[in-house]
Amino acid sequence: MTSRVQEFCSGISVIKTYIQEQEERKKFTNDNQANVEVNKQLIRANSLFTSLSQGIVGLSYLISIVFGSILVMKSTISLGDFVAFNTYLSLLIAPIENIGKVINLLQQGKAADNRIRHVLSTEPTIQDEEGVTSITSIQGTIMIRNLSFKYQRSKESALKNITVSIPKGTSLAIVGKVGSGKSTLVNLLLRLYNPPKNSIFIDDHDIRDVPLKTLRSSVAYVPQDNFLFSSSIKENIAFDPNPYENEQVFHAARQAHVYQDIMELPEKFETELGERGLSLSGGQRQRVSIARALIKPSPIIIFDDSLSAVDSKTETNILNTLRTQMKSRTSIIISHRISTIQEADQIIVLDKGEIVERGTHHSLLKQNGMYKKMFTQQTTEFLSPSLNGRKILIKKRRRS
Ligand SMILES: Nc1ncnc2c1ncn2[C@@H]1O[C@H](COP(=O)(O)OP(=O)(O)O)[C@@H](O)[C@H]1O
Ligand SMILES: [Mg+2]
Repeated sequence: MTSRVQEFCSGISVIKTYIQEQEERKKFTNDNQANVEVNKQLIRANSLFTSLSQGIVGLSYLISIVFGSILVMKSTISLGDFVAFNTYLSLLIAPIENIGKVINLLQQGKAADNRIRHVLSTEPTIQDEEGVTSITSIQGTIMIRNLSFKYQRSKESALKNITVSIPKGTSLAIVGKVGSGKSTLVNLLLRLYNPPKNSIFIDDHDIRDVPLKTLRSSVAYVPQDNFLFSSSIKENIAFDPNPYENEQVFHAARQAHVYQDIMELPEKFETELGERGLSLSGGQRQRVSIARALIKPSPIIIFDDSLSAVDSKTETNILNTLRTQMKSRTSIIISHRISTIQEADQIIVLDKGEIVERGTHHSLLKQNGMYKKMFTQQTTEFLSPSLNGRKILIKKRRRS
């Protein structure tokens, strides 16, 4: 019931705009009804238990009074014995009933304990394996060799035979349609999924042999869904085991071009976000998320379509700032906007998990392939205001 209610609350605007109140109310009533039925069963079992135990208590009194009186009348026992026996009996009843209740509680507790233990004892699938090296720092050279990868439950490979090398301090841009495997490649570099052995090398170490802590502390990552926590903006930016000075937080915010936006908020950097606080616009969230990555002094930085929700002027500004910063860092930029990536040292075009084109912006334009097509499309975009005759309101660019 709790998770249903939570889902309703977070999806309330979708429910309202699609006039689904009745439907959702029906679902809630059904769930509630099922919950009531289960509880009724529990109450039934409980009342049966209580009445049965009280019945037995009453019966034992009855027996002891009838049988005891006969014994007293026959003078087998004294009246004192009879009274004493009955007093003891009444003293015993409460503890015996309690034993029943305790057994009941123990059973319920055991069931809950089993469930919690099941969760707690689950081993993470991705952890440091045998043969892990003890390196604590990374320079930032990335080599990907014949990398193919398939998600556990899917039939198709998400990546096929990817080979690319990114020397330290250079940039790689990845473009491609939605679902072409761009985020998957990044997930593997962060080891959010395990790549096959001998397919990704960082500074000549197989990524599977690099301690996870070293790997992840060496990569600053701006994810595709700009997740922010329900805490202050400052805490969201300085989200790292290392402590940061306020000035460093401000600097990162300036570099991500979100400083002005934050300064206009009621409590500036202390403004609370999330359920109990304020929500930011998509573009602001994205830039806070970029600031979170920029503050981290890591040798590798990854942007997964991280400039999609900002306008092209802000984008250019951010990119110019980044370019100076990224000179010292190995960077991977995923984007479907060519303008974002044309300065990259090398560009790969992914299609259905394969690299179909590679080169620099100029060499790719000469190839007259998919990249060129995307480029031409984007320079002539914004010319299709209606969809099947229906007016559509494009709030945000589609993300891939
Ligand atoms: N966690 C997952 N489990 C199974 N399949 C996935 C998962 N994530 C992505 N995929 C599939 O892998 C392919 C590549 O996805 P993705 O890397 O997210 O593409 P892109 O970032 O280029 O849009 C898609 O076909 C997608 O459906
Ligand atoms: Mg993606």
